[in-house]
Amino acid sequence: MSKARTLLGLVFLALGLWFLLAVFSSDEEPPAALQTFTSSAQCAECHAEVYDEWKASQHSISWTNPRVQALSNEFANQDCIDCHAPRPVFVTGIGERVLPRTARRPEGVDCISCHLLGDGHVAGTKTIPSAACSPVATLDLGRPDFCAGCHNQHKTVDQWRESDWPDRDQDCFTCHMAFRDGDPNRGRSHVFPGGNDLAMLQRAVDLRARRDGDGVAVELENVGAGHAFPTDERSRRADIFWRPASAPDRTPDGKTTWRHLYRIRDPYRTETDMPSTLVHAGETLRVEIPEVPDEELVVALFYMREPYFDDPALPDPEAKGAVLVHTVRVAPR
Ligand code: HEC
Ligand code: HEC
Ligand code: HEC
Ligand code: HEC
Ligand code: HEC
Repeated sequence: MSKARTLLGLVFLALGLWFLLAVFSSDEEPPAALQTFTSSAQCAECHAEVYDEWKASQHSISWTNPRVQALSNEFANQDCIDCHAPRPVFVTGIGERVLPRTARRPEGVDCISCHLLGDGHVAGTKTIPSAACSPVATLDLGRPDFCAGCHNQHKTVDQWRESDWPDRDQDCFTCHMAFRDGDPNRGRSHVFPGGNDLAMLQRAVDLRARRDGDGVAVELENVGAGHAFPTDERSRRADIFWRPASAPDRTPDGKTTWRHLYRIRDPYRTETDMPSTLVHAGETLRVEIPEVPDEELVVALFYMREPYFDDPALPDPEAKGAVLVHTVRVAPR
């Protein structure tokens, strides 16, 4: 008899527990179902397209990039680890400078850095409890402050805020995470084109040149970068060169025939004698070539990811992998 009563008691207890569980987990998967992610390779199983895009991005090479390895002395300079192998942005906190991690550093700025929330869920645009990664709609993921934890050291996000792009509803995502095939239902591309992409460089600025007395008036307008041109790393630079259209590429002894006119760059903190010559969003730079021969000329804009020329006395824009962005022809008088 007492045995039957105990059994009945147990049945009620079980029913009660089941009821409690059902109430508290009605719109969320029980935490036990949450997978613990230890590598971005795990995301690839289900998000192959995003993974391939990310692999093609600068974010995936932020640790292995030979330029970064060289400049940080293979990360002996520990300050460099922070943003190049960061802990998850949402764990450190939006608007905070990110912190370095100790594990899987070669994965760089990976899926986990950008998506993992403190509670083990992933930040997404929608809440989908049935998905293995259990994404939670997180508005902060889609805000420029999210990028700022790593991209405001050189004021890229501030430059955008001070421009008129926010009023035009154009932010980091519009220009750097465009919808795949322009279709919002397809989600946002993770390739993150920037200074590494010729089409982006070309849409950033307009280059114009016309005769003005004995010289040539050159204008460079920042029409399409949502911030300064160039922006972020102080190693970025752009240079305006010119030469007669009839000039050969090289002199017989192999020297460049391009003549340097103007440099656009934000100097390192130690280069105190140099002003910043960045062209801010919407601004137009105006420079003169004082005296030019009366023949057809070419004016050109080159972009480079390293700050110095090998021979400052004869700057050679075609050395060190500079990119030719725009050319304009100027007719004879
Ligand atoms: C956790 C740090 C971090 C976050 C967050 C982050 N980035 Fe980056 N980003 C980097 C690093 C580091 C690099 C450079 C990697 C390299 O070149 O080695 C980079 C590179 C880039 C590049 C390529 C630049 C080039 O050289 O052409 C673009 C564009 C970019 N990020 C845009 C964004 C945008 C937009 C956001 C916000 C949605 C964002 N990033 C969020 C750290 C971050
Ligand atoms: C506050 C975050 C942050 C820290 C700290 C940081 N970086 Fe970066 N680094 C970035 C971002 C963001 C980019 C991409 C910006 C761009 O493309 O202009 C970048 C890009 C670079 C690049 C350009 C890569 C290329 O292919 O052109 C080099 C080199 C670099 N960092 C070296 C370093 C070194 C060396 C240190 C330490 C002294 C360091 N970084 C510390 C955020 C950071
Ligand atoms: C076992 C499969 C699986 C794995 C592993 C997985 N996911 Fe998901 N994920 C899904 C499914 C299914 C969805 C919902 C449908 C969709 O959006 O593709 C989803 C949705 C998402 C979303 C939200 C999509 C939106 O529209 O907002 C994000 C963000 C996300 N996953 C990130 C990740 C990240 C980051 C990882 C690795 C840390 C990961 N996922 C691992 C299956 C997976
Ligand atoms: C209106 C479009 C637009 C908006 C908005 C925009 N960008 Fe850009 N961004 C560009 C273009 C075009 C380039 C290439 C020219 C350049 O390097 O400045 C670029 C370049 C970059 C680079 C690479 C710089 C280099 O030379 O290596 C980074 C990093 C970057 N943007 C980050 C951001 C962040 C972060 C935001 C949001 C605060 C943002 N961008 C907003 C258009 C935009
Ligand atoms: C530099 C930060 C960053 C990295 C790295 C990153 N993401 Fe994202 N991801 C975002 C942002 C920002 C969004 C879009 C937010 C929005 O639209 O509001 C997003 C959106 C998504 C979505 C939603 C659907 C879509 O395609 O827009 C999925 C799924 C996703 N990411 C998966 C991944 C996976 C998997 C990886 C690694 C291979 C990854 N992400 C790497 C920042 C990042």
